[in-house]
Amino acid sequence: MTDLTRRDVLTLAGLAIGAACAGAPRRANAAMRGAAAFPSPPLLPLDRSIPGVAIAELSAAWTTTPIAGRTARLRTYNGTFPGPLLRVREGEVLRLRFTNHMAEPTNLHFHGLHIDPSVDNPFLSVDPGQTCTYEFPVPAGSAGTHWYHPHIHGSVAEQLFAGLAGPIVVEGPLEASSRLGRIEDYLLVLKDITLVNGAPAAHTAMDWMIGKEGTLVLVNGAAQPVLAPRGGTVRLRFLNASNARYYRLSLEGHPLYLIATDGGLIRSPQAIDELLLAPGERAEVLVQLTREGSFRLLNLPYNRGMIGIMGRMGAMRGMGGMTFSRTGGAAPTLLTLRAPAARPLRLPSALALIERLNPERAAVTRAVVLSGGMKMKSAGFLINGRSYDHERIDLVGGLGDLQVWEIRNRTGMDHPMHLHTYPFQVLSRNGVPEPFLAWRDVINIAAGGVVRIAIPLRDFAGKTVFHCHIVEHEDRGMMSIVEVT
Ligand code: C2O
Ligand code: CU
Ligand code: CU
Repeated sequence: MTDLTRRDVLTLAGLAIGAACAGAPRRANAAMRGAAAFPSPPLLPLDRSIPGVAIAELSAAWTTTPIAGRTARLRTYNGTFPGPLLRVREGEVLRLRFTNHMAEPTNLHFHGLHIDPSVDNPFLSVDPGQTCTYEFPVPAGSAGTHWYHPHIHGSVAEQLFAGLAGPIVVEGPLEASSRLGRIEDYLLVLKDITLVNGAPAAHTAMDWMIGKEGTLVLVNGAAQPVLAPRGGTVRLRFLNASNARYYRLSLEGHPLYLIATDGGLIRSPQAIDELLLAPGERAEVLVQLTREGSFRLLNLPYNRGMIGIMGRMGAMRGMGGMTFSRTGGAAPTLLTLRAPAARPLRLPSALALIERLNPERAAVTRAVVLSGGMKMKSAGFLINGRSYDHERIDLVGGLGDLQVWEIRNRTGMDHPMHLHTYPFQVLSRNGVPEPFLAWRDVINIAAGGVVRIAIPLRDFAGKTVFHCHIVEHEDRGMMSIVEVT
């Protein structure tokens, strides 16, 4: 970042100038929702009249919004559920003017982007009526599927559940060239919600413990849409923007070819039968439609564990805490893919080069333990025995160092742990070496499991956070502050 842009950011974002709300234009919602046709998220308009700069306007507000074939009062970005797609290019500067039209503080987090934590600042509050400009260079190597959402500690779960989430796609050179760029590309934001009297359902005490899952499980705000591609090969970009729901995806009659994880493209397509996507995670797959017909994208049962805070809540087994019971009935359909009579393209064989991190070079190898415990009078989850405190620094690192974390989950349910700013590689899960190299920023630690990750603390010093992306857990204290100096 140049000094100029850094100063702009400090002035505009850091100090959070309380500009009067001029009533940023609210986009009419052009995208039809809830119809059978597949709705792509609307594109956030970008002004690129200054070379190398992309300027956009975003606002958060309560709006009456089309969702799943009806309308509801939701918290939205620019009036749509999910929020509009921010589609930017590696290397350009994004200047995003963000206005909070709600009566409560909020802010923006750019989940998945390796940018300065003083800009992507989870401690910043954008107060009611304020406008803040978030400005940063879209980093080289960040091509992939990411997202934005609020990050005010204590309010994330309610704001996210009520609709505040939007996708980011970063375009990179690797895709523009090669066979990949010619493949039809669809973005699928997986987000669930429960509506009560046309508004998002309130959290219950149980929701705060196990994470809130919605009864409507939507793809781009639509229930079970039909995706009818023209060609025989499609690229599907999945984003799990749900508070707590896990997706175990499988497409009838077709293998999936995994081509990207949170951090973008992997080395070569990996054939998989199913894809587990924890909250916050992204993945991209290619599908070869070898015969004409309709095929359902299913959400298979996945047991993400029980409350297990004290090990004495076994009686609640079956009441919740799992996306679906292990023995449970038919897997719900998320979407139907209508395959045309077209020949699939040959899959690309080489995608991206990913460096192999050497854990022997780690400056620090640390144990991170997830446990259940009591905070004040309510049960919650802890990281290294502690609940979040905004004045305490929990984990430190030296700029430029490689750290290895061994994260052990001593609770009875899975926790999808997420680190801001610094992408990492998974070394092993429960002692099993990771089968391929990939950059991630969310890693699911299964109940009772242990995962080793390697994190290069590159480019930016500052304070950021590490937390569970079951956002109810995050709000209730399952978050640590990380400081790199
Ligand atoms: Cu997607 Cu700290 O979050
Ligand atoms: Cu994040
Ligand atoms: Cu958790």
